[in-house]
Amino acid sequence: MSAGPDPGATVTATAPGRVNLIGDHTDTTGGLVLPLAVDLATTVTGRAGGTEVVLASDAEAEPARVPLDVADPSTVTPGWARYVAGVVAELRPTVGFTGHVTTTLPVGAGLSSSAALEVAVALALGFDGDPLDLARLTQRAEQVASGVPCGIMDQLASAAGVDGHALLIDCHTLAITAVPVPEEAEIRVVHSGQARELASSAYAERAAAVHAAEAVVGPLRLVDDVAALDRIDDSLLHRRARHVVTENARVRLAAAALQAGDLPTVGRAMVASHASLRDDFEVSTDVLDRLVDRLVATPGVYGARLTGAGFGGCVVALTEPGVLHEGWRVRASRGAHLL
Ligand code: GLA
Repeated sequence: MSAGPDPGATVTATAPGRVNLIGDHTDTTGGLVLPLAVDLATTVTGRAGGTEVVLASDAEAEPARVPLDVADPSTVTPGWARYVAGVVAELRPTVGFTGHVTTTLPVGAGLSSSAALEVAVALALGFDGDPLDLARLTQRAEQVASGVPCGIMDQLASAAGVDGHALLIDCHTLAITAVPVPEEAEIRVVHSGQARELASSAYAERAAAVHAAEAVVGPLRLVDDVAALDRIDDSLLHRRARHVVTENARVRLAAAALQAGDLPTVGRAMVASHASLRDDFEVSTDVLDRLVDRLVATPGVYGARLTGAGFGGCVVALTEPGVLHEGWRVRASRGAHLL
């Protein structure tokens, strides 16, 4: 699974970011998500050799310099080098690497720039295995680097993306079903302008809440009637769990509608997802809510919602062609690969 490229060989690896159409805060309980890898990516190019991984980045002032035997990735500086260190710690390549990182992804906007970096670095350092193993390794890298108990969605979407398709992922079995995105669907990502400052601590707190709910009612992925949640006395935990259960149902509905080319139904599910993330899961902000409301009120927009962890960052909109002129128009793209 690991090893490393031959010393001296030049390697270029690229990994896309992702946008999640629907299914947020469901992956940590083995639920359903519907992301797509996008045509914005991070590329690592360089040469194997030495006993350190040294990467300069266009987007960062200071390079990452990580010894192959790095002990604690979470303490490495500068901050972005932690993700490189997380990959080194999980992959333990036998040979170092010196190279350069470029990206077309906005960093820290909720399009999984960190997952794209981890996946591209792992491939450049000689990871040899299937996309699922690549996603598992880089998910662990993200967790050790950031201390956030993230799920597998971001890394798996980056590793396993399919050109022209969204990915319906069952985060329990890790089965992936590629769902074609119809030609007449336009997917836009619009930044709220709000940085995701509270995201890490709140993410861990929400994950703990849904696990506490599962201690009462069992795996939420197996609950299909919200009445089963009445056994949860704590009203906050009840709402957190209700988001997860209803979101899994919305992902199922949206994936079937996307497959059938029924974009209005997908859009309605997205709008309901945002309301649930806002009211039950409480990971939205006034800025995100206002942006979603404005986009949804625009003729030709099927639906819009916050995408990813929330607390700022980006909104995803599904529209008829050519109706929005802000943000990024993204196309579903293939996953990470060597060039
Ligand atoms: C972050 C995490 C993912 C997922 C989303 C919310 O992006 O890294 O695993 O939990 O938040 O859906």
